[in-house]
Amino acid sequence: MKIQFPALILAAALSTPVWAGQPVMDVYKSPSCGCCGQWVEHMQANGFTVRAHNTDDVAQHKYRLGVPPGQGLCHTAEVNGYLVEGHVPAREIKRLLKEKPNARGLVVPAMPLGSPGMEMGNYREHYDVLLVNRDGSTQIYASY
Ligand code: CU
Ligand code: CU
Repeated sequence: MKIQFPALILAAALSTPVWAGQPVMDVYKSPSCGCCGQWVEHMQANGFTVRAHNTDDVAQHKYRLGVPPGQGLCHTAEVNGYLVEGHVPAREIKRLLKEKPNARGLVVPAMPLGSPGMEMGNYREHYDVLLVNRDGSTQIYASY
């Protein structure tokens, strides 16, 4: 018991940096995409460490991560094994990482104006954040 207790403290200390910030996010996007860069800045401003990958073949990552057919958008991201497609607010990604649903991830369809990275003054379109289930079906996760 005298050995186990300090070992526990050490383990807790070592794991602290992992919990201090948000996990690393990989973003796949075309080099010429402006709104993608804006969205990446939104993620960084909310504590995510982003590895941005410029590629002409974002589609292969959409396929790999399971973006439902017809819902592919300008950029595709991956965080802790979850898919994040389109202009999803950081807040919902943090919620996803906390709740850890058994799902593929999140999609915001159709690049709505006023979503993160799609700002246009104060103009805000209504939009839904969708949870993509394991079978590819979707359900509303949050509404803005
Ligand atoms: Cu976009
Ligand atoms: Cu984008």
